[in-house]
Amino acid sequence: MSKFWSPLVSRLTPYTPGEQPKISKLVKLNTNENPYGPSPKAVVAMAQEVGDNLRLYPNPDAEPLKLAIAKRHGLSTAQVFVGNGSDEVLAHAFQALLKHGAPILFPDITYSFYPTYAGLYEVEYRAVPLADDFTIRVDDYLGHGDAIGGIIFPNPNAPTGCLLPLDEVERMLAGNPDRVVIVDEAYIDFGGESAIGLIARHPNLLVVQTLSKSRSLAGLRVGFAVGHVDLISALERVKNSFNSYPLDRIAIVGATAAIEDDAHFDKTRNAVIASRGKLVSDLASLGFEVLPSAANFIFARHPQHDAAALAAALRGDGIIVRHFTSARINQFLRITVGTDEACGTLIDSLRKYLA
Ligand SMILES: Cc1ncc(COP(=O)(O)O)c(C=O)c1O
Repeated sequence: MSKFWSPLVSRLTPYTPGEQPKISKLVKLNTNENPYGPSPKAVVAMAQEVGDNLRLYPNPDAEPLKLAIAKRHGLSTAQVFVGNGSDEVLAHAFQALLKHGAPILFPDITYSFYPTYAGLYEVEYRAVPLADDFTIRVDDYLGHGDAIGGIIFPNPNAPTGCLLPLDEVERMLAGNPDRVVIVDEAYIDFGGESAIGLIARHPNLLVVQTLSKSRSLAGLRVGFAVGHVDLISALERVKNSFNSYPLDRIAIVGATAAIEDDAHFDKTRNAVIASRGKLVSDLASLGFEVLPSAANFIFARHPQHDAAALAAALRGDGIIVRHFTSARINQFLRITVGTDEACGTLIDSLRKYLA
């Protein structure tokens, strides 16, 4: 706290990202990164972009990337917004689409950046409790009319990994025709059906995705939103009042090549999905309860062992997972699905600890 801080800055509770350790030997299963590298075609495209070109500003609209995303999803480029990671896209969406002077709704257990953005943009919110089985109860989000400012939730949810079926997403959209519903699909490629197909019927739907997970480009910082042109132009207005060039030249070419490389995308996400299945059954055989996951991470608890103690024991063996301390979930560990080898190291460590 300093006398130079604005009152708003004094009130902020910044987001705390998962640890990025300095020691490279660690088995890192804590921030839902992809264990496989990005598309080799993306790597080549980025290498080729490094040179004299960099003295020039990038395309302010990241046109080639918007075209690739639009083509992949059967949309027009006017229905696509891109940003510096989906975090930036989400931040703009809070300001552009959720700030209506009424509380917005999101689940009580969810991506912990949402309350942070709400603080930054002074958007009131109400955290809606998940059901006892940690699923979203759509009925809780219906019938509020103009008394709410909008809705946001990840699908699959984070950190639970639970998927809301598409017909339930549509019920949420149909029940809130005058409010924007943002579906944050950071993990959708690992087992869910995207809501993008609902855009044509629901002008209140904004779908946000990232290249950080299924495209393995967390280090590049690229995310996007798709929806009705009116929603996208609201995001463009905020972006162009903030930073005209959120994506640099390297990010634009790398992300475009990654979106176009279906073969690499399918190979790597299928490998993650297969490893998830094995990880879940190995954890179950050690007595863990694992929530059904459609993501590249799992959320698990052991009925006889404290989660903080388990996380500390894993850490002692050089394995890092995420442990959240908030009340409803403090007995869970969130474990990123790594390679089979990394997951095997985790299972060996747990087996030793539980013996
Ligand atoms: C639910 C959810 N949304 C969005 C993000 C942000 O992703 P990025 O900013 O890397 O695109 C994350 C990152 O972990 C996430 O878990």
